[in-house]
Amino acid sequence: MKNILVTGGAGFIGSNFINYILDKRDDCNIINLDKLTYAGNLENLMPSEKKENYHFIKGDISNFELVHYIFEKYKIKHVIHFAAESHVDRSILGSEIFYRTNVLGTNVLLEVARKFEVEKFLQVSTDEVYGSLGKDGLFTESTPLSPNSPYSSSKAAADMMVMSFYHTYKMPVIITRCSNNYGPYQFPEKLIPLMIINSINNKKLPVYGDGLYVRDWIYVIDHNKAVELVFEKGKIGEVYNIGASNELPNIKIIKLILSYLKKGEELIEYVKDRPGHDRRYAIDSTKIQTQLGWKPAFTFENAIADTIEWYLKNESWWKRIISGEYQKYYEIQYLSR
Ligand code: NAD
Ligand code: TYD
Repeated sequence: MKNILVTGGAGFIGSNFINYILDKRDDCNIINLDKLTYAGNLENLMPSEKKENYHFIKGDISNFELVHYIFEKYKIKHVIHFAAESHVDRSILGSEIFYRTNVLGTNVLLEVARKFEVEKFLQVSTDEVYGSLGKDGLFTESTPLSPNSPYSSSKAAADMMVMSFYHTYKMPVIITRCSNNYGPYQFPEKLIPLMIINSINNKKLPVYGDGLYVRDWIYVIDHNKAVELVFEKGKIGEVYNIGASNELPNIKIIKLILSYLKKGEELIEYVKDRPGHDRRYAIDSTKIQTQLGWKPAFTFENAIADTIEWYLKNESWWKRIISGEYQKYYEIQYLSR
């Protein structure tokens, strides 16, 4: 049976990935290594936690001894690397932990993976490494890396390191670069869950700048199905972009959430812009579609409704989050904006 090391499996995308995989497969063991930062939450894994082929280890990917011990104990030959500090705004407040985890942590994983001669190392990355687009054009896999935030630069550095291990050591690596995700279990610092929860609570909705910044939204399950496919069938040494061709300006999403929840637009508050704010992201996913046969299964209309319903039904999940350390973050991020 395949033992797959999944890093960051208690976060938004990683937990959805583990729950999705273990719901349909019992032919692999998942070993989830997660530091449980503010963004990691074991409640996300309730559907999986009792399964015999699921194992959780609390720890830091940059701890060489621990990572070495895990590879040895579980005879790891397959890695899917989600763990990261993932929020642009937090990276602007303080960048050090981003480089520690996203760059040095990835380096530890790669070095140990090299020693244990892994058969596949999948680096889960982001379209933000390509920088920002003007009104036209799409990111393809050959768009030069031009990251603008501390977060995206740390991911770009990690991607380049991963590729260097392919070229230098012939390590069997693959990189996926996905656009903005939404869905259940997303930490309410990111646009969509933050706006849903603030709307439910009749709190102001802080729109950065003119609200016309564009992101290309994909439902988390569509992303994870693509990750699974690339992991199974992707070509070693290649990069695959993942996106659902669903570009929307932020203000349009915010108004849609308000309308779904039957709340008034007076909750909208335009606030000071994010420094270095990327204007537009948009993904060309022709490669994964034509070479691997992936295509998104969810429409934005249905999946955003499901997502809002999930937050309505899972108040206890997000209430526990927003009553804790989150309040301090919220004050620092928004009070002086
Ligand atoms: P998240 O912040 O929700 O979760 C990150 C997880 O990593 C958390 O469980 C956290 O505890 C864990 N973690 C952080 N530092 C760690 C460390 N040093 N050691 C072990 N675990 C650690 O992030 P997410 O949105 O689920 O993103 C997952 C991955 O997908 C990231 O690599 C991110 O760059 C990438 N990605 C995210 C998006 C998006 O829209 N959220 C889009 C494209 C790519
Ligand atoms: P975010 O969810 O942080 O993702 P990313 O910056 O990685 O794309 O932000 C998505 C967009 O929403 C981005 O253009 C910034 C904007 N935004 C706001 O206008 N207000 C907010 O409070 C947040 C968190 C984001």
